[in-house]
Amino acid sequence: MSTLTFGIIKPDAVRAGNQGKIVDRILAAGFNIRGMKLIHQTRKQAEGFYAVHAERPFFGELTEFMSSGPCVVLALEKENAVPAWRELMGATNPAEAAEGTLRKEFAASIGENAVHGSDSEENAAIEIAYFFSKLELV
Ligand code: CMP
Repeated sequence: MSTLTFGIIKPDAVRAGNQGKIVDRILAAGFNIRGMKLIHQTRKQAEGFYAVHAERPFFGELTEFMSSGPCVVLALEKENAVPAWRELMGATNPAEAAEGTLRKEFAASIGENAVHGSDSEENAAIEIAYFFSKLELV
């Protein structure tokens, strides 16, 4: 059964002009893009999105980076979308990301790691609703 996940093409990848290549890879992997837009988050919006990480030592760095420039937010549909998108992204730390993954190709560091993906279907629904209204999902 098709399910949804949520993705972000992060500010480092947009700054580098890699958003088109990443969207191509998403389509080539068989995802149906149900929502997509370019946004520039405020610090407060990034803090809200990453609230589960508020106690982590990297929270300040993470939210500063995520509000440092435009990013592309995506609602992605596929069979088993959550694990499929995580597999295409590769490991959080690009140094550990497998060949052929987006983070291997496009990410510079664990902080500036090109893409985000939900870790569960439950969180995907929460994360999609954080950025998209019903009208923006086709
Ligand atoms: P993401 O999937 O967006 O979810 C949380 C993010 O925190 C993660 O990707 C990383 O970019 C970031 N992150 C995780 N660990 C570290 C770290 N040690 N230092 C900086 N950022 C981190």
